Amino acid sequence: MPEKSDDLMEKLVALCKRRGFIFQSSEIYGGINGFWDYGPLGVELKRNIKQIWWDDVVRKRDDMVGLDCSIIMNPKVWEASGHTTGFSDPMVDCRACKARYRADKLYWWVLQDRVGREGKLLAKGAFEADDLEQVAEFLPPELKRWARAENFAPLKKTAQVLLLSDMLPARTARIDVAGEGNQTFCVIAGPGGTEAPHSHPIPCPSCKNPDSLSEPRQFNLMFKTFVGAMEDSSAVAYLRPETAQGIFANYKNVLDTTRLKLPFGIAQIGKAFRNEINPRNYTFRSREFEQMEIEFFCHKDEADKWYAYWRQARFDWYVNLGLRSDRLRLRDHEPDELAHYARACADIEYAFPFGVSELEGVANRTDFDLTQHQNASGRDMTYFDDETKERFIPYVIEPSGGVDRATLAFLCEAYCEDTAPDEHGKPQTRTVMKLHPKLAPIKVAVFPLVKKEGMPEIARGIYEDCKAAALASFYDEKGAVGRRYRRQDEAGTPFCVTVDGQTLQDQTVTIRERDSLKQVRIAADGVVQYVQEHLA
Ligand code: GAP
Repeated sequence: MPEKSDDLMEKLVALCKRRGFIFQSSEIYGGINGFWDYGPLGVELKRNIKQIWWDDVVRKRDDMVGLDCSIIMNPKVWEASGHTTGFSDPMVDCRACKARYRADKLYWWVLQDRVGREGKLLAKGAFEADDLEQVAEFLPPELKRWARAENFAPLKKTAQVLLLSDMLPARTARIDVAGEGNQTFCVIAGPGGTEAPHSHPIPCPSCKNPDSLSEPRQFNLMFKTFVGAMEDSSAVAYLRPETAQGIFANYKNVLDTTRLKLPFGIAQIGKAFRNEINPRNYTFRSREFEQMEIEFFCHKDEADKWYAYWRQARFDWYVNLGLRSDRLRLRDHEPDELAHYARACADIEYAFPFGVSELEGVANRTDFDLTQHQNASGRDMTYFDDETKERFIPYVIEPSGGVDRATLAFLCEAYCEDTAPDEHGKPQTRTVMKLHPKLAPIKVAVFPLVKKEGMPEIARGIYEDCKAAALASFYDEKGAVGRRYRRQDEAGTPFCVTVDGQTLQDQTVTIRERDSLKQVRIAADGVVQYVQEHLA
């Protein structure tokens, strides 16, 4: 997969702060780990993503309806769904510095320590595809998958890899693979294997103390709160860790209040909360985030067909909005990776600068969720088919995406540095956010070339027309026009309109296109139509 430059994340984070896409939450008090705020440009970008998703999956279809459920639900929901007992990650504490890590992610820290950034060096130099097969027979499935997912490139002769994972079975205490050069795979089993991580010389990634990591213990990721005045166990409630359960809990309501027949879907966009042990990679893993989820209900016999449909449709959605298909991939889960209730699952992954990571999952969840809720609530969740006279609990295909992850992927993809001539024709480096026009927070910026001769008045008129047409617009008359262009390039504005001397003669303006830098002259009163036509 082609990668963006190594320092992209740093530059992107700086731009997002400087231009008002994303701020650290409660920054004036030093921030709070795992929480982010979207500024004036970011909120528009995120809204556009959600609106396009909603239009595509709800409004443009006749087999889908929307829903907006409460964040706090009856705690019995989370018992039935399995979250109360099963929604946890293994956690390791450092007794010395009190840092906390996900035990199953610890090996990344070790790798990072060894090879620099997260496995990147490995991905470039650890082993050859052919060798992978040779190596793979020694590896447990989890590690094999990881190696394949990282797309290992040609072998460098002295690859030393130290991996640590709780997912490795006991027998993989140490593997030396014979072969060309000196390739040593030292695989150390962590929790779940024979030995716990603290029995190995694995230093705390933070304070480097060689023997301070605790035994792993399960940590439930749901945020707890109390409903009402009493703070006792009867008042405990949870902030939802996914929007999906609100859909399942309302499945019967929707069926009873609409004339929908199978197959049909229910879509929801909303906040979800997870008390992640290590929030990381900017907004990628946050503690508060938004999901856009579909539960698509169908007959069991049609589940494979609809799974294949949504798997592809959701992949194409990201491509159509500008994510390069060679930076995206669909990764099918292997059978031993599937949740016990799932029949199939594929992750849509994107090559972020910090590694290839999940944007969205598409799963065939069978009739598990509705059956669980039927059993726990005593309510009938069956569907009666008038034609076949069959009564059954439908299967569910679930495409579940993260709004914040999609936003981050679009931002990473859009970030670009190129050269553009300034107003004197001299080449200048510019930073430009090449967002798909539909996603761009500001669609059109309007400038008078100079602040005199009636140009500001004409420019303001055009700006007002754009606003009246609900085009997100920006008016700017300050400073050299080249600078104004560059500010809009950084904001990702696809069109800049300039009112100049010629406008006063013939009522035409120039429209400059952000990516090609092409300038066309059109009638001043045709700006709104031009922009609207070019947004698709
Ligand atoms: N209902 C299924 C479900 O919630 P998930 O894979 O846990 O599945 C779905 O989450 C999507 O939600 C992920 O693909 C990701 O885009 C987003 N997501 C999950 N945890 C997140 C987090 N901590 N921060 C940001 N986005 C997250």
